[in-house]
Amino acid sequence: MTNLTNCIKPIIIEGVGCYLPGRVVTNDDLAKIVDTSDEWIRTRTGIGERHLAAEDEACSDLAVLAARQALEDAGLEPSDIDLLIVATVTPDHITPSAAVLIQAKLGLCSVPSFDVNAACSGFLYALEATRSLLRDERYRHALVIGSEKLSSIVNWEDRTTCVLFGDGAGAFVLSNSASDLPVITDGLAGADGSAANLLYVPAGGSVQPASKETVEGHLHTVTMNGRELFKAAVRHMAEATEELLKRNGLTTEDIAWFVPHQANIRIVQALAQQLNVPMERFVCNIEHTGNTSAASIPIAFAQAKAEGRFQKGDRIVLVAFGAGLTWAATLVEW
Ligand SMILES: CC(C)(COP(=O)(O)OP(=O)(O)OC[C@H]1O[C@@H](n2cnc3c(N)ncnc32)[C@H](O)[C@@H]1OP(=O)(O)O)[C@@H](O)C(=O)NCCC(=O)NCCS
Repeated sequence: MTNLTNCIKPIIIEGVGCYLPGRVVTNDDLAKIVDTSDEWIRTRTGIGERHLAAEDEACSDLAVLAARQALEDAGLEPSDIDLLIVATVTPDHITPSAAVLIQAKLGLCSVPSFDVNAACSGFLYALEATRSLLRDERYRHALVIGSEKLSSIVNWEDRTTCVLFGDGAGAFVLSNSASDLPVITDGLAGADGSAANLLYVPAGGSVQPASKETVEGHLHTVTMNGRELFKAAVRHMAEATEELLKRNGLTTEDIAWFVPHQANIRIVQALAQQLNVPMERFVCNIEHTGNTSAASIPIAFAQAKAEGRFQKGDRIVLVAFGAGLTWAATLVEW
């Protein structure tokens, strides 16, 4: 596992926000379009419903709404932001980045703005990159967003994948200024590209550019080996958590809350079992969101904060796993 950012000074979480599109699609709604049932989806995944963006709502639109909430929470104006990083696998276009479109829509100054693609680990990868960049005193306030319109890369005729995913966005405003607000104290990230074929979108890139055949073959949508991903998700999230705790001289007993990537409630249950931590200390919102990839952790975090779950002094572990394979873990002190 690569330690990207050990020995970096704590970074303050000044504000958080999230946005879920208004259209709610239940399992029963999906059972009308594919051969599935509410019972199957709930039992195998813990998902009851997901929010889907409107046709004219792009990744950048979701991101802007989450970001505005995070800015308000931080008490900052768009002009205060001097770095923007967006984690997504569903940018509005292949190029330019979602980040530059979001920069323009939010009215940020001409600050560095770029995307990170690390699938469901993307938001934590973006936090790692931000922590490094905030060492540079030229940057003071960074906006980090996870935003996904996964409904745009799902095959709605494939019951093995379409029931899993949802749309949404979450955002953090981070700062390197001294303060007693919540801090990110450590983080790590890793990858294993040899297993890239477990979850990918075959066409639309340089290997297989868009053509009549790729569209007809549904090659622009997610293809996935669910069983192998399940096992890898539990293993990598457990290992990442254990490594993060060990190098900070902590045990799971020192952690008040775990905010895991929301892919499948059974993955979270298996992780909890492996770490020997009761499920009550895991923040889980998957029943109402489905898997929103890079948006999942900041949405769950922002909702938990809004519900007043975090108390001063709480240590919180964020842990993610995604296509790539990628994984990452972040330590927060509230
Ligand atoms: C996808 C996942 C829910 C499937 O659960 P599972 O228990 O492994 O189920 P299986 O794939 O073995 O399928 C079991 C049966 O259900 C069927 N099935 C699959 N999807 C179904 C659906 N939506 N509704 C009804 N039946 C379904 C399968 O066709 C299979 O039928 P068969 O036994 O007749 O062949 C699970 O593997 C998973 O969550 N994996 C991780 C996926 C993930 O998180 N991806 C993102 C990573 S960030």
